[in-house]
Amino acid sequence: MDLFEYQARDLFAKHGVPVLAGEVIDTPEAAREITERLGGKSVVKAQVKVGGRGKAGGVKLAATADEAVARATDILGMDIKGHTVHKVMIAETAPEIVEEYYVSFLLDRANRTFLSIASVEGGMEIEEVAANRPEAVAKTPIDAIDGVDKAKAQEIVAAAKFPAEVADQVADVLVSLWEVFIKEDALLVEVNPLAKVASGQVIALDGKVSLDDNAEFRHPDFEELHDKAAANPLEAAAKAKGLNYVKLDGQVGIIGNGAGLVMSTLDVVAYAGEAHGGVKPANFLDIGGGASAQVMANGLEIILGDPDVRSVFVNVFGGITACDEVANGIVQALKLLEDRGEQVTKPLVVRLDGNNAELGRKILTDAAHPLVQRVDTMDGAADKAAELAAAK
Ligand SMILES: Nc1ncnc2c1ncn2[C@@H]1O[C@H](COP(=O)(O)OP(=O)(O)OP(=O)(O)O)[C@@H](O)[C@H]1O
Ligand SMILES: [Mg+2]
Repeated sequence: MDLFEYQARDLFAKHGVPVLAGEVIDTPEAAREITERLGGKSVVKAQVKVGGRGKAGGVKLAATADEAVARATDILGMDIKGHTVHKVMIAETAPEIVEEYYVSFLLDRANRTFLSIASVEGGMEIEEVAANRPEAVAKTPIDAIDGVDKAKAQEIVAAAKFPAEVADQVADVLVSLWEVFIKEDALLVEVNPLAKVASGQVIALDGKVSLDDNAEFRHPDFEELHDKAAANPLEAAAKAKGLNYVKLDGQVGIIGNGAGLVMSTLDVVAYAGEAHGGVKPANFLDIGGGASAQVMANGLEIILGDPDVRSVFVNVFGGITACDEVANGIVQALKLLEDRGEQVTKPLVVRLDGNNAELGRKILTDAAHPLVQRVDTMDGAADKAAELAAAK
């Protein structure tokens, strides 16, 4: 989960990374009172989860409270690289900025380690610096066990050639930033710019944090960081039911057991769809092992609730889960949905193979549900589902 700048700022503050005051608002007029409280001037900053806000005109200085309201009016509703600005942060203005640095920690998957990236040439041009003069960017691997103590931080500071007068402060910032990274279970923490101001102090003026969703179970407070306005309503409903669901933009609803099987199902359906006017998978949904009628019903309810879906392909390979259980699950799920008052009108193509396939198929045949068709091969079933989606 990527965070907004203001959320990153709050996490930085919590762990002792120096930041400036800032408040987030969604109406321009609210900028007035905050700016007055900040001493009559402020910086109005678009809160969107995309880089390059400053260059796009989403970061503006305001010398008066009136100006802050005017800038907030300009920026709210603005489109930055396809992201609409719904919120702005009214931030305290940094006293005269002398230098802008870049520091970050991230998970370096390719090298199976953590990595620190640091540069004394931070600011809005950091991408160009990294591309054209890689020697100006210091990359230091971080051992997962040892982490970043003051000595490691000093090593990073030396590698990036920070000026002596800020070396100690930057090292302290790195130690605090590492604490954010570890304690908050982040995959990325970035400060750009880490500004040196006229007084000689260094301050984090902008932050990016990406949290590890897999660690959400040990951070109950992550819940409120979710951008509910941006979430897809079907994905949100699926998440609430504990389902592994991703909305896609096609027409064939997909349910399978096991992430690998579901991914291949997406490929097979996309391929089969080419012969049927280009229909595509409408979603990814892995109901996992031991798919009970309840889980099947929940999955079907989400998929059938997607207005884009025109047919559903249930692709199950019985391993630990036996096909007869899945078949019973499907039959009961349809009944459960009908009992819940859901109108089930979309055709289902079911392919069962593996453990107890014969028994599972018999259960479906005997149930003779008018919307359910059995096709016993994966390719054949994908073709049928695509054909039904195209015909609707
Ligand atoms: N509170 C502040 N006071 C003074 N100047 C600021 C403040 N915040 C940002 N700036 C200036 O504006 C520039 C751009 O701001 P910021 O880094 O927040 O946005 P950005 O880098 O364009 O966005 P992104 O990091 O998403 O690409 C900074 O490099 C800094 O010079
Ligand atoms: Mg920035």
